[in-house]
Amino acid sequence: MDKTLESQGTSWRQHLPDEAATVAFGARLGEILQSRYGGRAVVFLRGQLGAGKTTLVRGLLKGLGHTGVVKSPTYTLLEPYNMSAAEVFHFDLYRVNDSQELEFVGFDEIIDGPGLKLFEWPEKAADWLPHPDVEVSLEVVTQTQPVSREVAVVFS
Ligand SMILES: Nc1ncnc2c1ncn2[C@@H]1O[C@H](COP(=O)(O)OP(=O)(O)O)[C@@H](O)[C@H]1O
Ligand SMILES: [Mg+2]
Repeated sequence: MDKTLESQGTSWRQHLPDEAATVAFGARLGEILQSRYGGRAVVFLRGQLGAGKTTLVRGLLKGLGHTGVVKSPTYTLLEPYNMSAAEVFHFDLYRVNDSQELEFVGFDEIIDGPGLKLFEWPEKAADWLPHPDVEVSLEVVTQTQPVSREVAVVFS
């Protein structure tokens, strides 16, 4: 992956030919979030259902030392992970209805505390979320055979 973008740029775009590429990209992004933001950042993950958001998070978590399974937090809203060198809060807001549901999972404390806060479907809770430090957008590319993905990252 391009080192210059990491050190100088504010955006990064890459073609992801297969699932393994998405996993590898997640791991690389995790490294960058650790070094550039000291492991403390709000990250929005955008993209349609099945775009690869959870797959990317799985790669990020593996890269930061998580060895167990990664469950999609679609029904629980939040899956927290505490590795020896990193803390990650993986939210999926697809099913959230009101801000109280977020309060129940400790949202305010999490936002004020350390760790990487990753949000799938941030647009479902736009009014309640802080401004993101990093926005990741995944798109399905249908021009390739088999179908692949393209990712764009904007660092603020
Ligand atoms: N770069 C890629 N090319 C093709 N398929 C991919 C790629 N990345 C992920 N996938 C597949 O797309 C699906 C994405 O599912 P998931 O990560 O749960 O999406 P989301 O969380 O965005 O709903 C998985 O079946 C995964 O194998
Ligand atoms: Mg998902």
